[in-house]
Amino acid sequence: MGRLDGKVALITGAARGQGEAEARLFVSEGARVVLGDVLDEAGEKVAVGLGDAALYQHLDVTREQDWQSIVAAATGRFGRLDVLVNNAGILHTESLEQTRVEDFMRVVHVNQLGVFLGMKTVIPALRAAGGGSIVNVSSNAGLEGISHMVSYVSTKWAVRGMTKTAALELAPDGIRVNSVHPGGVATPMILGDEATASGTEQIMSGTPMRRMAEPGEIASLVLFLASDESSYSTGSEFVADGGMTAGHVLQGVE
Ligand SMILES: NC(=O)c1ccc[n+]([C@@H]2O[C@H](COP(=O)([O-])OP(=O)(O)OC[C@H]3O[C@@H](n4cnc5c(N)ncnc54)[C@H](O)[C@@H]3O)[C@@H](O)[C@H]2O)c1
Repeated sequence: MGRLDGKVALITGAARGQGEAEARLFVSEGARVVLGDVLDEAGEKVAVGLGDAALYQHLDVTREQDWQSIVAAATGRFGRLDVLVNNAGILHTESLEQTRVEDFMRVVHVNQLGVFLGMKTVIPALRAAGGGSIVNVSSNAGLEGISHMVSYVSTKWAVRGMTKTAALELAPDGIRVNSVHPGGVATPMILGDEATASGTEQIMSGTPMRRMAEPGEIASLVLFLASDESSYSTGSEFVADGGMTAGHVLQGVE
């Protein structure tokens, strides 16, 4: 018995990183999965590797039309939709003073508008399935401030607020909505071309467990929230951050 047997899930940003790990884990637990991303070649490759249980379709989460098309594709191919994982996201690192409006809004469009559009678009399909689960990927940046990340932090707090609002509105329909708050995760987002050794070291030193998460360690939390095992959880924050937001570690004290 798979933990997602019979369920159909739509995962955004599924071409790589955490979204890819979630797609692989979901299929291994019996789900059929629709992967959406703007990285078409990579996304298609992941879906082909997963076989008949997976379908890739181009999805720019900032475009309402793309959302309507991918939800139609999910229900057309697999007959229903039970789970949405709003995982796609981008990062911009710059001081508050230097951040340009264009860069601020680019992050808002993907990380905040994208989550809003996703939740809004899937409601009829989830309702038709008799209920479902929406998992919104926020961050430790949705629980605290982080210097030089004003746009990213804004959007990740917004995701947390939208999650609670959606949970309140959708509970009568049997649709649960929760947010996930990873700390540093070893994915291209922070290990990519622009990553620096000092940036990586800073994440490690700010994490009591002294390591980043592997993408699968976040995927297993998302799986729990997607499955019926979390049937009484809605409107809540689920943190997987190696202790990053637990508090302050006193250095040099025996
Ligand atoms: N990596 C971390 O340390 C970390 C920590 C906390 C939260 N997060 C969050 O986890 C989520 C997944 O990130 P990741 O670590 O796997 O990073 P990643 O960069 O490897 O993956 C993000 C994916 O989102 C896709 N994407 C970007 N813009 C898109 C758009 N407009 N439409 C559709 N897809 C788009 C990218 O193409 C990519 O495949 C993000 O929401 C991120 O903010 C990451």
